[in-house]
Amino acid sequence: MTDKQTILVTGATGSIGGGAAVALAKRGAGVVLLGRKLEKLEARADSIRVALSEAQIDYQDTDIASLVIDFSDMESVRLAAAEALNRFPRIHGLVLSAVAQTPTTGPNILPSGHELMFATNVMGPFLFTQLLLERMQQSDGLVLHVIAPYYKEIDWDDVESISNHKPMTAYERTKTMHRVIAAELARRYAGKISSVAFNPGFIFDKSDPELTKRWLSTGLTGYFYRIMAVFIAKPPAFAGEPVANLMLSHKDRSAINGALFKLDKRVEKPDKAMNNEEWGKRLWDELVLKTGLTTE
Ligand SMILES: NC(=O)c1ccc[n+]([C@@H]2O[C@H](COP(=O)([O-])OP(=O)(O)OC[C@H]3O[C@@H](n4cnc5c(N)ncnc54)[C@H](OP(=O)(O)O)[C@@H]3O)[C@@H](O)[C@H]2O)c1
Repeated sequence: MTDKQTILVTGATGSIGGGAAVALAKRGAGVVLLGRKLEKLEARADSIRVALSEAQIDYQDTDIASLVIDFSDMESVRLAAAEALNRFPRIHGLVLSAVAQTPTTGPNILPSGHELMFATNVMGPFLFTQLLLERMQQSDGLVLHVIAPYYKEIDWDDVESISNHKPMTAYERTKTMHRVIAAELARRYAGKISSVAFNPGFIFDKSDPELTKRWLSTGLTGYFYRIMAVFIAKPPAFAGEPVANLMLSHKDRSAINGALFKLDKRVEKPDKAMNNEEWGKRLWDELVLKTGLTTE
């Protein structure tokens, strides 16, 4: 990477992460694309290079890097974090946009014993962020959590939503947890790094055949998403631009620490999940235990 801001983007092969990566690269950041498969990451990197060339923006090949990670697997998360620390001497930002959503099945219990959506959406990103925090503090780092506005009460006796598993409820709980953790990180690390929650609205990359197959296939969910995709969904750039603004336009990042944004707009109304300090402490402690961070 050249002497640019280095921003890690998880979910970079998806709609919002992809839009964010392009917008960041166009604004002159070095981007590191994170995802499970190297071929997909390389294809996304190539498409970003094409977009930069078409926009006549100078770049070096090393300004767009790839890093393989599987957020459902804590060993993979640890390896990827170690690789990131090794390859990127400065890390200015982290966009957390990876997501697993299994709308009709579950609970999907991984060999580790954890539930798939909980591990991928909550544990993995938490562990990865923790392992990069020290490096990010050296560059006034900003962690941007891509959230959804759903509110679903956390079941503290069943944090992973394994008993009486309802896939949509389990998913929405993980999204509620994103806001809880975004706010708790902001409280704990104020003055060291900054943390914001970002609500992208409804975004869908209709040009991506894999996403189209996954979301617009048959069944009731596919039908619902098809209607939404046609009439309401915005393209990835619609969320990508405000992510790039948040990452690159704030000289004093501490001024936005702990804030919730809907695209470019700061939401002034207090958010139930973000404001609850008791939940913040409780979930943080649970995640420290579940990810094995106490044994470090
Ligand atoms: N799109 C919307 O309208 C919308 C609205 C509100 C909130 N959000 C939130 O925005 C975020 C991104 O949504 P999206 O629509 O961009 O999702 P998406 O298009 O479905 O992309 C999901 C991304 O997550 C990655 N991923 C899945 N499982 C993974 C794992 N185990 N390890 C590492 N990466 C994994 C996928 O990478 P692979 O290439 O490895 O599969 C892909 O890049 C999510 O947190 C979602 O809840 C989205």
